[in-house]
Amino acid sequence: MLTEETKNIVKATIPVLEEHGTEITSAFYKHMFEQHPELLNVFNKTNQKLGRQQTALAQTVIAAAKHIDHLEAIIPNVNQIAHKHRALEIKPEHYPIVGENLIWAIQHVLGDAATPEIVDAWTKTYGVIADVFIKMEAALYDEADWQDFVSFKVVDIKDESPDIKSFTVKSDVVELKPVKAGQYITVKVHPEGEDNDALRHYSICSVDTSHGLKFAVKRDVAGDAKGMVSNYLHDSVKVGDELLLSAPAGEFLVETDNKDIVLISGGVGMTPLMSMLQAEVDTRNIKFIHSAYNRDAVPFKDEIKKLHNHENVHFYFNYSETAGRLNKEKLSKIINGNEEIYMCGSVAFMEGMLEIFNDMGIDRSHVHFEPFGPKMSITV
Ligand code: HEM
Repeated sequence: MLTEETKNIVKATIPVLEEHGTEITSAFYKHMFEQHPELLNVFNKTNQKLGRQQTALAQTVIAAAKHIDHLEAIIPNVNQIAHKHRALEIKPEHYPIVGENLIWAIQHVLGDAATPEIVDAWTKTYGVIADVFIKMEAALYDEADWQDFVSFKVVDIKDESPDIKSFTVKSDVVELKPVKAGQYITVKVHPEGEDNDALRHYSICSVDTSHGLKFAVKRDVAGDAKGMVSNYLHDSVKVGDELLLSAPAGEFLVETDNKDIVLISGGVGMTPLMSMLQAEVDTRNIKFIHSAYNRDAVPFKDEIKKLHNHENVHFYFNYSETAGRLNKEKLSKIINGNEEIYMCGSVAFMEGMLEIFNDMGIDRSHVHFEPFGPKMSITV
């Protein structure tokens, strides 16, 4: 339990944290990796380079400080992060390392302004927040389909579009359970040599596991991100190869209330929504909206063909090459505002859609989304 005095000190430091939040977490990462280089194998180096994780962690710390009187308000965000942590095999013993380095960074950036009282208040507060994560993650480890990273054999690779491949994998030791539509698996590979683990999450694209677990990977070539892992999977992994996978994770799941749903995606964001479509096709009315550059770029055409004749499913494809982007005018003709909306795509796609939904007066509580990249770096 935190005392009122501790909480008041934490609340009083919010403006300083907001001002220096990203600076503090950047210093934190640098220092932590110097002290614990082994952790470089857990973190996504591309996210580090792009500053994505820095923003996410800074925002989480500030969110926690703002809600210090009722930490349960941040539980939905903690839940999403806890799933990722569990998928990456983050364990309770990692938390003190993060805590020590975060406190060091606060002192380092704030200098004399970080009085012993402030440092003490934040040390205690971090402990409380860490406990929330550790407890939630313990429950997720308990319910995981398997523990740790397990070797799976690649049994099929399919070109789903010019830049998206699906990989179907099977293991001799893990008996696959039914997949929850919307979840992802985590792959551990070594494109830079055996000493350098690279971990990535990829959405599962089929709820049917009778032939194995199927996930999709887009070849990432744009911007700074260069897609080390996706290019490795596309170019170097062949049928018969082994891949290390941790168990399915993620809380981007369709609510079981039978309400009509809109599944809206951009590019490879269709992947988790394809699982949702398969899982929900007999349960309710579904509007399946997809935005792609052109018809050629649309993934999972075979799956779409299979599901095309269901009366309750309506497909809308927007090809930006000829029709421009999805906008309010187009979406207002499709979405009536009484549905639950599930969407997935790049951070830019999500932000664009969220702005349109705001304009359409759709309450955010009816919009569920999963960006590729840290969710809390979305600022709309
Ligand atoms: C991801 C917060 C502790 C390792 C994240 C994300 C947030 C976050 C907000 C981004 C989630 C998303 O993708 O949307 C926190 C907070 C912590 C904490 C507030 C402490 C209370 C830890 C610990 C470790 C860790 C102890 C392990 C040393 C990671 C990794 C990712 C991640 C590897 C994936 C992102 C990447 O690789 O760039 N965390 N975290 N975190 N966290 Fe934590």
